[in-house]
Amino acid sequence: MAEHDPTCIGRVRHVLGATVTVALDPDLAGIAPLWEGRLHPVGQVGSLVRIPQGPISLLATVTLVGISELSSPLLPASVPQIGNRWLQIQLLGEIDGLGRFRRGVSEYPGLDDPVHFTTAEELRSVYPPAGPDRVHLGSLAAAPDVPLTLTAAPLVTRHGAVVGSTGSGKTSAVATVVQSFVRGGWTAANIVIVDPHGEYRAAMGGLAAVRSVLGDDDGLLRVPYWALPATDILRAFCGSVDSATILSRFSELVAEARRSFVRAAEWLEMDGASVTADTPVPFDLRSVWHQLDYENNATYERTQGQGTAEVEDPGDPSQLRPAKFRPYGLGNAAPFKGPTFGIYSSVPTRLRLRLADPQYHFFQEPSGDLTDSDPLTDVLQDWLGNEKPISVLDFSGVPTEVTDLAIGVVLQLLFEVAVRSRTDGIGRPRPVLIVLEEAHRYLSDVSTVRVAREAVNRIAREGRKYGVGLLLVTQRPSELPDTALAQCGTIIALRLTNGTDQGTVKTALPDSVAGLADVLPALRTGEAIVVGEAVVLPTRVVIDQPHPEPDNWIPVLDSTRVVAIAYDAQSETIYVRFPNGSEWRYESCPPMTWEEFSSPAASKGRYIAQVLNQRPHGPLTS
Ligand SMILES: Nc1ncnc2c1ncn2[C@@H]1O[C@H](COP(=O)(O)OP(=O)(O)OP(=O)(O)O)[C@@H](O)[C@H]1O
Ligand SMILES: [Mg+2]
Repeated sequence: MAEHDPTCIGRVRHVLGATVTVALDPDLAGIAPLWEGRLHPVGQVGSLVRIPQGPISLLATVTLVGISELSSPLLPASVPQIGNRWLQIQLLGEIDGLGRFRRGVSEYPGLDDPVHFTTAEELRSVYPPAGPDRVHLGSLAAAPDVPLTLTAAPLVTRHGAVVGSTGSGKTSAVATVVQSFVRGGWTAANIVIVDPHGEYRAAMGGLAAVRSVLGDDDGLLRVPYWALPATDILRAFCGSVDSATILSRFSELVAEARRSFVRAAEWLEMDGASVTADTPVPFDLRSVWHQLDYENNATYERTQGQGTAEVEDPGDPSQLRPAKFRPYGLGNAAPFKGPTFGIYSSVPTRLRLRLADPQYHFFQEPSGDLTDSDPLTDVLQDWLGNEKPISVLDFSGVPTEVTDLAIGVVLQLLFEVAVRSRTDGIGRPRPVLIVLEEAHRYLSDVSTVRVAREAVNRIAREGRKYGVGLLLVTQRPSELPDTALAQCGTIIALRLTNGTDQGTVKTALPDSVAGLADVLPALRTGEAIVVGEAVVLPTRVVIDQPHPEPDNWIPVLDSTRVVAIAYDAQSETIYVRFPNGSEWRYESCPPMTWEEFSSPAASKGRYIAQVLNQRPHGPLTS
């Protein structure tokens, strides 16, 4: 009977544990049988096949394809006949009599058992649709009409990685996932995107609160330098400073400044004596600068700093105005150089220039206030996007070294807060997912950014306990430490052209599907192998392009049917927001149509009914 089944493609020839070799039916035309009007690419690595065993069906993924003449060394001992086309498949699970899918197999196939390609309908019973706990990612590469979803919870709290060469579609993949979260109504989590290159503002449209280091007022991303240890502050503002004298004097001044803040601040209950140069409490770097500069330039009545200082103008730390002194005399004439004259060389000047540099403004906010409350409470709210579920922290536009330190501060503080919150706030009560672009820069063993590296590693190790998840995004997976990918519950691997990187990802894949890694260099843009806790099966998927929501909505005041409208000229799409909050898009609308629709005279409701509804349209979900 089975020979006549049009979905049958071959027969089992060899079984070695979960690895099964299948000889393709010699009568099978080509390698993509036509079924229900659609080509079924059975010969594709990553596609699924089915082996019926009475009421249940075993499900397997194709990992190797060949013609024995061409690839005989690869074959298990001379199984298929010369000239045969064959598949190597990996058993993954089974569909029971009720059409439900389960991982693992209870029995192995017998020799000569017929093997079938899977139809879209069968695949749908394996891959659950999007729902309250599953977010949409894209569709199966082998069956474009079967959607692939990810389980939300493990994706958020059990870490994930998105890897792929430059231009393979990592940023777009992240945008799609994050948008699906929000549009699917999954708002149980906060998503914080750490964006060193400013790529996400456009991709997220109106869904996210965007804060940028170069922003103004409300849009400013504030990362207080005082949360860093003293030596890192000096490095952030002055680059690397090797002189031990400068480092120790700077640390001493910082420690003093922090201590006096702690003693004076009403909201801080801390013992001043326990405060060191590295305790993250506010202090004013300007006064530390002023003191350093003073010591570097002071002249005195007598030698060795004896007598009074020859101050012409005391300067003003808050205005960044240095103190001025009478120039030292020549020969043995007064005034004399002080004992520390010039020993800090250009450091005080560099510090002043950076403090005055608008690029470093974000790093000086917020300053501590003695009477108010903890300045970090507000900042953390900003980082978490306030009322928006997604927050984009845009670090583009400032020097890399500063960015890296600032990212370290953000990660460290977010994690500390999560660890401390028990009943409300982020963490266990409300998980937070941190998307980290360029992750290799922060995780790598050779990374120079100690603060960021320690914070990321700590979250990678302990984050799951406290409801903090990482989504690591990188084009160089091989530069991640060995354990990083192993700690990721879910891996989305896009095209990888570099052999070392492919090797790293292959090692992280479960043995049964390591063969899938061989397709990594040949994946199309936006196509990926997804493995791990968030998917039912390791799957080759075509990821949806993200749909940025337009952020140029135009309010409509003279209509009761429509609240706001927007137009994207590039994709010729009109967007409409209705009074109930739902948003729809109407495609194939050339600029003429938009002009007619948006003209004040047009009745929006009637125009939608008569014109726009004739175009491809749908709700604005992914
Ligand atoms: N799913 C997709 N389908 C079709 N095209 C896509 C898809 N995803 C991304 N692209 C296109 O590929 C290009 C690169 O995408 P993206 O910026 O996401 O790559 P990337 O891996 O983040 O690159 P980089 O390493 O430079 O940051 C974009 O122009 C985008 O339009
Ligand atoms: Mg990118």
